[in-house]
Amino acid sequence: MPSKIVQPSTCNLQRDIPSQSHPIGVFDSGIGGLTVVAALQHLLPHENILYVGDTARVPYGGKSAETITHYSQEIIDLLLRRSCKMIVIACNTASAVAVPTLKNFYKIPLQGVIEPGAAAAAKATRSGKIGVIGTKATITRNAYSETLHALDPKLKVISQACPLLVPAIEEGWIEDEITDSILHRYLDPMLSQNIDTLVLGCTHYPLLKKRIAAIVGAHIALVDSAENCATQVELLLSEKNLATSSKDNGTLHIILTDRSESFLHLAEKRLHLHADSFETISLH
Ligand code: DGL
Repeated sequence: MPSKIVQPSTCNLQRDIPSQSHPIGVFDSGIGGLTVVAALQHLLPHENILYVGDTARVPYGGKSAETITHYSQEIIDLLLRRSCKMIVIACNTASAVAVPTLKNFYKIPLQGVIEPGAAAAAKATRSGKIGVIGTKATITRNAYSETLHALDPKLKVISQACPLLVPAIEEGWIEDEITDSILHRYLDPMLSQNIDTLVLGCTHYPLLKKRIAAIVGAHIALVDSAENCATQVELLLSEKNLATSSKDNGTLHIILTDRSESFLHLAEKRLHLHADSFETISLH
């Protein structure tokens, strides 16, 4: 086990027993996880959501497994102290690298995004040739190819790490010729391999969906985890008897670990998400 990870008696940091009225905790390194929040709000409009964007330490994708697991653990502990009833790891990098370790530590339900994304891709492909783009950590860990092969060993998976995309997105370079050039550099070699499905294996990438679609063409299905992840969360809440019974609109509270000029602007402009309340905290 990585040395920075404390196997906690600290695992049960919840102040009280999880109850239906408590929020769902969701986190990512930055803005990306809000693509999952949008799907959660759509499917579960009465649930309150507490979102942490680790803007002080984004991007996670080039960091070591030990560091990513340590960051994830700090954020989960924070969400448990804030009485979350379950945790959605809306970050492929943390889901790929940290969830297998952290699932052993926590009693609270943890939902990652790799399985939902892989299931959506296996359903979408006709030719069985699937492209996957993600951060260095997600691609190096082989998270998607292993999960896809567990679903169907005959699938052919072509993976590409795209480390420059998250910084460009966090910078707000969504419709931008520099971002388009970066996309071409990463995607063109994959296109020569006749994939018919492309997994956006980083929760930031759906923010570039239009640009990616324009580059790869309409014959390639673009798949991300958000919708399937929200369906898994609905199932888990019902299984654990944790779904809210409230009929009021759920609220969205956002916590950032550092000030970010572009975060709320991008959330509203690109994802049409409105935070009911907002705070910046330090995790140290
Ligand atoms: N959005 C995250 C993911 O899905 C994190 C990317 C990063 O911080 O590098 O992988």
